[in-house]
Amino acid sequence: MNVPNQQVYEDAHIVNIYANKTALFAPEETIFARLKPSVADQPVLDVGVGAGRTTPHVLTISKDYTGVDYAAEMVEHCQRRFPGVRFATCDARDMSAYRDGQFAWVLFSFNGIDYVSPTDRLKVLQEIRRILRPGGWLVFSTHNAEKAVYSAFHLSNIEFTPHPVRLGREVVKYFTGWGNHLRNRKQEVLGPDYCIRNDNAHNYRLLTYYISKASQVKQLETQGFTDAQIVDREGRWTDAATPDASSSWIYYVARKPA
Ligand SMILES: C[S@@+](CC[C@H](N)C(=O)[O-])C[C@H]1O[C@@H](n2cnc3c(N)ncnc32)[C@H](O)[C@@H]1O
Repeated sequence: MNVPNQQVYEDAHIVNIYANKTALFAPEETIFARLKPSVADQPVLDVGVGAGRTTPHVLTISKDYTGVDYAAEMVEHCQRRFPGVRFATCDARDMSAYRDGQFAWVLFSFNGIDYVSPTDRLKVLQEIRRILRPGGWLVFSTHNAEKAVYSAFHLSNIEFTPHPVRLGREVVKYFTGWGNHLRNRKQEVLGPDYCIRNDNAHNYRLLTYYISKASQVKQLETQGFTDAQIVDREGRWTDAATPDASSSWIYYVARKPA
């Protein structure tokens, strides 16, 4: 994946989009409620923290909190937004700043893991496994290959409005999306276990990893995690065998063996 996903997340306009997000998602509510008794007041690493949407929620579970992101602009925003809270610029592919077994819980929320190459994704999982203590928990979400995405050329990419200036902006955005897609689609991949799609996120500027539930569970097992559990977009516990063509992304909980 040569597309500069990281540059997109360093863009001040994109930082602002994440800065406006404050609420937990339904699957996070479900998982945090389940995990809280096991991880309360234990060291937690919030990887790909972005503009800090999850920070205040995780802090209610544990004050032993560190948020990291590979986009320095996101980290600077978090430092201004939450003075006194620990944040650092760190790439999940190399978390050598952290010790083996340092954390009871690692969170990689809102699909952050989908913005590295397929090979690097495995490195990220290895790094997370290394810094988790035995029995520690990994919580993350990833895009669902079972859900179809619509094309950049589809008119549903335009939000029709009677306001002429806004409509004009929408049309410009639509054709910018075409340009982004025509440039990035050459790097799309359709593999048996995963695919790389240039979807509509940030107007077709990103290349995003999609995987089926069964393949994700297998990948976690291969990377040395156990007890994988799955939560759909609505926050319901589900399993790999239940078809799900409606969740654009899905949450997983897994453990480092004790
Ligand atoms: C979709 S945003 C989600 C941000 C935040 N977690 C939230 O839920 O609002 C994904 C985040 O993951 C970060 N990210 C992606 N790959 C990363 C990596 N290899 N290391 C650290 N952060 C990464 C991006 O910079 C971005 O801030």
